[in-house]
Amino acid sequence: MTKITIDPSERMIILGKTGSGKTQFAKYLLRIIAKKMPVVIIDPNELWLGKGKGGQATDWAGKKEMGSIDKPHLIDVFNPKWHVQCLQPDVDGTEQDERLERLCYDLLKAGHHFIYFDESEGIATANQVPRYIRRVWKTGRAHNLGAWVSTQAPTGIPKIFKSQAEKFIAFKVGEEDADVVGNIVHASEDEVKALKPYHWYYYDTTMEHAVLNPPIPFKGKK
Ligand SMILES: Nc1ncnc2c1ncn2[C@@H]1O[C@H](COP(=O)(O)OP(=O)(O)OP(=O)(O)O)[C@@H](O)[C@H]1O
Ligand SMILES: [Mg+2]
Repeated sequence: MTKITIDPSERMIILGKTGSGKTQFAKYLLRIIAKKMPVVIIDPNELWLGKGKGGQATDWAGKKEMGSIDKPHLIDVFNPKWHVQCLQPDVDGTEQDERLERLCYDLLKAGHHFIYFDESEGIATANQVPRYIRRVWKTGRAHNLGAWVSTQAPTGIPKIFKSQAEKFIAFKVGEEDADVVGNIVHASEDEVKALKPYHWYYYDTTMEHAVLNPPIPFKGKK
């Protein structure tokens, strides 16, 4: 397996159809990151918010309280003890989400954070990239703001995401997307189509290196 090195200011794109393992993969790695630096998760589905826990969000390991869901976790109320915070954005790719906008600018100012956009197709598409997302993606590196996105819509990824990312991961995708995704991760269409559950292609532009990887260790209920 590739030894994934995480650069705190990197950009990474995670592709895969629904249920292919993107979120699980991100959880695994974000846990490692969160030990070193604060992580902010943009989560349209509240999956990371510890739904059903009396309106309180916990970190996804269930250990720490993160504050109440109806009070979005903006950086100005950031508690330095917390390593993981979530924000549920408005998921209409064409609307400006003021909370998310403010968070993005605050993070750029603060630096030294990691931001993960789960299901980014709700926030930015090929046709519509909010300016604050563009700023995070384009200038975040200079501010030590690492950013990952995951999406099940590979054809709709904004160009700016692809041109600025150093790392690309593809899990299983729809047959019709295999060509596009193969191009992104430097694998053939057939190789992408043959991906087994939770196996992933990893392409790193800094190493000019693409490799097929086995599933990451899975902890959790099936
Ligand atoms: N490495 C793994 N090994 C075994 N099972 C896994 C693994 N990764 C994910 N799963 C299983 O697959 C389910 C779906 O995974 P996950 O939520 O990560 O998919 P996803 O790509 O984020 O899907 P969606 O696009 O719908 O959000 C998980 O709940 C888990 O049961
Ligand atoms: Mg997911």
